[in-house]
Amino acid sequence: MFKLIRQEIDAMIARDPAARSRLEIALCYPAFHAIMGYRGTHWLWQRGFRITARFISQIFRWLTGIEIHPGAKIGKRFFIDHGMGVVIGETAEIGDDVTLYQGVTLGGTSPSVNSDGQRGLKRHPTLEDGVIVGSGAQILGPFIVRKNARVGGNAVVLSEVPEGATVVGIPAKIVRHEADDRFCAYGTPIGDLPDPVARALEELGREVKELRGQVAELKTDNKSSGGSDVIADKPRIVASSE
Ligand SMILES: CC(C)(COP(=O)(O)OP(=O)(O)OC[C@H]1O[C@@H](n2cnc3c(N)ncnc32)[C@H](O)[C@@H]1OP(=O)(O)O)[C@@H](O)C(=O)NCCC(=O)NCCS
Repeated sequence: MFKLIRQEIDAMIARDPAARSRLEIALCYPAFHAIMGYRGTHWLWQRGFRITARFISQIFRWLTGIEIHPGAKIGKRFFIDHGMGVVIGETAEIGDDVTLYQGVTLGGTSPSVNSDGQRGLKRHPTLEDGVIVGSGAQILGPFIVRKNARVGGNAVVLSEVPEGATVVGIPAKIVRHEADDRFCAYGTPIGDLPDPVARALEELGREVKELRGQVAELKTDNKSSGGSDVIADKPRIVASSE
């Protein structure tokens, strides 16, 4: 039990650049209080004490501004930075080492009861291990956000996110593909922060590749329309006739 609490606190220290000590986390972090409250209410929920679990869960919501339904399933080392306004629905599932920022909703889009009157249908998302969700993002529906995916601040995610992808916007679209299982605060890739020159070179490389593609297309069009090979393989330097 204490080992588990220690693990949760250490995960918070590792992921929040502002955190200094275990004592600070235990006293000042609403996420810590909300997650400890959730662990207790989930225990009660699983044993059938559903109203008690919901009632205690509401008390933690009043105290922390974080609403976690006791029926949700949450893995180890879960961290909610700042926390206010986070809502996690009943059938949401969260893997290990997941990070949410303030104002995130893991919400439902489908009704909880089907046409046969069966209750408790899966209607909230599943976040796999290592997912990071930016502030204000809404993830709505019973689909999967795969391992190590990143969701941008204020994105509205309405469909599955592939492993390691970064999605932004409304509705959310992929802007990066590469998988990375290292944690990076705010979802911003570590390698990108200190080296603007490398970023500029990467951008140039992308443009050169795009231009090469366009030249190749022009060559093919020109040949197929029977024209001369105007675009030579190697650039020719024509001396000026002075
Ligand atoms: C989504 C995110 C993880 C992407 O970080 P990144 O991989 O470094 O991506 P970049 O900054 O290179 O952005 C890639 C593209 O997405 C756009 N973009 C980034 N974040 C965006 C967002 N939240 N909404 C809309 N577009 C966004 C960028 O403008 C850029 O577009 P461009 O290629 O047309 O210029 C990051 O921007 C983000 O939103 N992190 C959450 C931060 C947060 O919630 N902080 C709260 C702390 S309290």
